[in-house]
Amino acid sequence: MNPSHVVLGGLKCGFSVEVMNSKTIRVRRLSSGMGKEAADWHAVYELCCRTGNGGTPIARDRWEFFGRLWVEPYKNIFPQWTYVAEAESAIIGYLTGCPDTLAFAKVKFWNFSLLLLVDVFRGRYRRNRDARRFVRQIFGLEKGPERVFPRGLSRKIRQDYPAHLHMNVEAGWRGSGVGTELVEKFFSDLRSAGIPAVHLYCGADPLEFYRHLGFTELAKITFCGAVIHVVGCRFRD
Ligand SMILES: CC(C)(COP(=O)(O)OP(=O)(O)OC[C@H]1O[C@@H](n2cnc3c(N)ncnc32)[C@H](O)[C@@H]1OP(=O)(O)O)[C@@H](O)C(=O)NCCC(=O)NCCS
Repeated sequence: MNPSHVVLGGLKCGFSVEVMNSKTIRVRRLSSGMGKEAADWHAVYELCCRTGNGGTPIARDRWEFFGRLWVEPYKNIFPQWTYVAEAESAIIGYLTGCPDTLAFAKVKFWNFSLLLLVDVFRGRYRRNRDARRFVRQIFGLEKGPERVFPRGLSRKIRQDYPAHLHMNVEAGWRGSGVGTELVEKFFSDLRSAGIPAVHLYCGADPLEFYRHLGFTELAKITFCGAVIHVVGCRFRD
């Protein structure tokens, strides 16, 4: 359970992407969880669960809690920083992002995590192991993958690379440029908002994709036998 080593990497990178399949894939920025967009958010919840196990589906009985845990904070706090990719009238990819991770974490605790905790204690997610893990993490009895990095390092990364993102693309659409288009749109909006850099945590599989987009490795750590990477991308002026 204990982290076994930490490696710091380079800190600067460029950013250059190509737009592919722009005729068939449309990337759209969401704005709120209300009205017509309720269906979009529902599609994001479902896609998150269909891809939540390193790109493969998680068990159906975990969907309700898992989707809420990973999507609701973005929907409630910064809905305008979530993007969906559409093709053939279906949502085939999403990116949930945030321009200021430090601010997000504070709001998330009071406006999301505490409410979820209350629901867990009221028995809404009985026998759900994700809910049990969430409670243990809130009370500091267990570390999530991001928390295994030394606290000072995580804080520095959040300061130097303030934005972060999570993303997933429907299995049948991977390798078609969808992920690139989502990141490209997010980066463009971050630059317009004056945000200097972005980071994310990932496993080994998508590392090459992020490198391709100009991310460099900032740190990595071995946790429960798997390597977790933190990668960052700093925008050039
Ligand atoms: C990782 C992911 C978001 C990338 O989106 P995508 O639409 O498949 O990526 P793109 O088609 O835009 O790929 C851009 C480039 O990166 C490469 N690439 C994409 N995923 C890759 C991977 N897992 N390993 C190596 N290269 C990858 C593509 O081959 C492509 O290179 P090319 O332009 O030379 O052909 C998507 O594959 C996915 O959802 N994977 C499963 C879940 C996951 O890992 N999510 C990320 C969690 S942090």
